[in-house]
Amino acid sequence: MNKKNSSTAQKAVQENSGEVAQEANSCCGSLRRTTGQLERRDPSSVHKAVQEHYGKWAEENDTCCGQAGGADEKLDNILYPQELLAGLPTDIANFTAGSGDPISVAGLKPGEVVLDLGSGGGLDCYLAARQVGATGHVIGVDMTPEMIRRARASAERLAVRNVEFREGYLEDLPVEASSVDVVVSNCVINLSPDKLRVFAEVFRVLKPGGRLSVSDIVTNRPLSADKRADREEWCGCVAGALSHKEYVDALTGAGFVDIRVSPNIEMIEKAMESGLARVESNKKLSNEEILEHIRNWDNLEGYMFTPHTITARKPA
Ligand SMILES: C[S@@+](CC[C@H](N)C(=O)[O-])C[C@H]1O[C@@H](n2cnc3c(N)ncnc32)[C@H](O)[C@@H]1O
Repeated sequence: MNKKNSSTAQKAVQENSGEVAQEANSCCGSLRRTTGQLERRDPSSVHKAVQEHYGKWAEENDTCCGQAGGADEKLDNILYPQELLAGLPTDIANFTAGSGDPISVAGLKPGEVVLDLGSGGGLDCYLAARQVGATGHVIGVDMTPEMIRRARASAERLAVRNVEFREGYLEDLPVEASSVDVVVSNCVINLSPDKLRVFAEVFRVLKPGGRLSVSDIVTNRPLSADKRADREEWCGCVAGALSHKEYVDALTGAGFVDIRVSPNIEMIEKAMESGLARVESNKKLSNEEILEHIRNWDNLEGYMFTPHTITARKPA
């Protein structure tokens, strides 16, 4: 979680009050609900907006790439257990736009092949690389050239040999069929304008029995067309988020089994405890009240956007 930016997780908690949701007024939403099915529409405008947003983000935070390493920078990434980040230069360890820790959830084993969807600055790839070891391999895919450049530079600096970064789209993965043991992703799938295609691609590249471990933002109810249409909110991991049911249905439709979509309460609590999460609400909700809403969010009026952990498996 980068201190120079309101991270995705912070933003999610801020939005959790439900009172701060802004109404959208433009039109780049690409998921449309008509007969209860998610449909595909106009992917390119969303890709472009997201790419521009994260390209700028990578460049604006490009303070230490290639330098000895942010020694004066404090480690302030609260998404992962601190021991997992041990030994990484702080500028690399802090560079995240994620919403959770899909690496610990994945239970990686030595020798496994891991694919990170939307690898950004590459942090999850470096963490995965340590766990799969020299006999394993990690592939990061991202569509934003500035992110790929940054990730490759960091890999070089860290002298990590079992990681590679490929420029490409989640909807058309530059990865061979049935070649991956574990697909991980950290706060990216919500950004895709064609999630059905993404899940079909993930299913294609996983080996039989392969697993999916994702951190993502999920809503308490399907978003209105107006809400979906807000490009800025889309880039901020809000307007493209699926509801719990939409997530489960989409994964089921793609052929996955053992699907779990659960709120990451620990992550939300950590953000609140550390003071990183600010609560903005017309009703001035306390942290306890917000957590209570998260636990019973079906009854909440308006939208909530919370970090979730999603796991699933391709049948063997
Ligand atoms: C919120 S950032 C998360 C980055 C990284 N996973 C992390 O935890 O820091 C989203 C990243 O996903 C990439 N991305 C978003 N949509 C994508 C798509 N459809 N195909 C490929 N990359 C995408 C963006 O370029 C960006 O680097």
